Amino acid sequence: MPEFVLGIESSCDEMAAAVVRDGREILSSAVQSQESVHRPYGGVVPELASRDHVRTVSQVVEAALEQAGVASDALAGIAVTAGPGLIGSLLVGLCFGKALAFRLNVPAVGVHHLEGHLAAAEIADETLVAPYVGLVVSGGHTALYRIEADAPPTLLGQTRDDAVGEAFDKVAKLLGLPYPGGPALAQVAEQGDETAFAFPRPMASSPGLDFSYSGLKTAVAIAVEERAPVDERVRADVAASFQAAATDILVSRVRRALAEEGIARVAVVGGVAANRRLRSVLGRAAQRDQFSVFFPPLELCTDNAAMIAAAGARRLARGERDALDMNAFSRVPFGTAPWKAQHPE
Ligand code: KG4
Ligand code: ZN
Repeated sequence: MPEFVLGIESSCDEMAAAVVRDGREILSSAVQSQESVHRPYGGVVPELASRDHVRTVSQVVEAALEQAGVASDALAGIAVTAGPGLIGSLLVGLCFGKALAFRLNVPAVGVHHLEGHLAAAEIADETLVAPYVGLVVSGGHTALYRIEADAPPTLLGQTRDDAVGEAFDKVAKLLGLPYPGGPALAQVAEQGDETAFAFPRPMASSPGLDFSYSGLKTAVAIAVEERAPVDERVRADVAASFQAAATDILVSRVRRALAEEGIARVAVVGGVAANRRLRSVLGRAAQRDQFSVFFPPLELCTDNAAMIAAAGARRLARGERDALDMNAFSRVPFGTAPWKAQHPE
């Protein structure tokens, strides 16, 4: 395993850099959030995200190196998210990473964003070993994968419309909560009664392992409209009832996936893995049904670069490196790496 690897992640609205030792030990993890940039618009504005990344990338990378106490010439390689994500945002981190790799004459390796999210769970707990089921729940993804040690991930099911994090963000907006909506909604939900509204658990009774969140979102929109103007009490009840429906469906899908795959280990990663209700309900299901559930620590659930450095370190350890003209890709199925296409090893 290469000793010091720098990771860079800029696929959405966070500019992040981190240094990881031996693929596991996080020496630093700097995350520059853009909350104040996007808050006036109630959501991420891609053009503003990439412009702000250009402004902060070098200082975030410097901060990560400084906090780790690692000089840049001690780096064994640089791992950078090459996709999926917002193309302008991705390009800033990728170009910076490639340029730094060129200057230091060290290998650069492109990492799939979801490979990074799963690596966060793996480095947090060494007992998480393949094969396992990975549930990726974020602002852009809601999908179940079977993860094998030496084979590409197999997609078991995914959302047919909105991602669960996106549903949290949209419902938060409906309720007048500030961006970023997911964590704000989860906080308001703590004061609410989750049985107050009987929102649908979409697809719960349908076969397969796909998800759907647009019907739930519409049901919430109708309830909010009927009660307008919503007071604090109703707002908390709607938030709690939505959160219960949104997370119950994840739990029932996980249980089915584990049963179908004959596996007793699931890792839950991505921003929504920080959700307290999901963590507790899935934890209880795991005790009852005797499977193990792995969540990364909260700071490694949402986007960060330690997860990219950890995933990249393993690729570097296998002797992989990517050409310095590798490109970024906004849509990339997990398990593929189109940035390698032009320059096979
Ligand atoms: O993984 P992530 O940081 O970025 C993406 O790759 O999308 O995930 C961000 C998503 C957002 O939709 C955010 O609202 C949601 O994760 N999120 C939460 C919580 N914390 C973040 N959703 C529910 N409960 C939370 N505590
Ligand atoms: Zn993410």
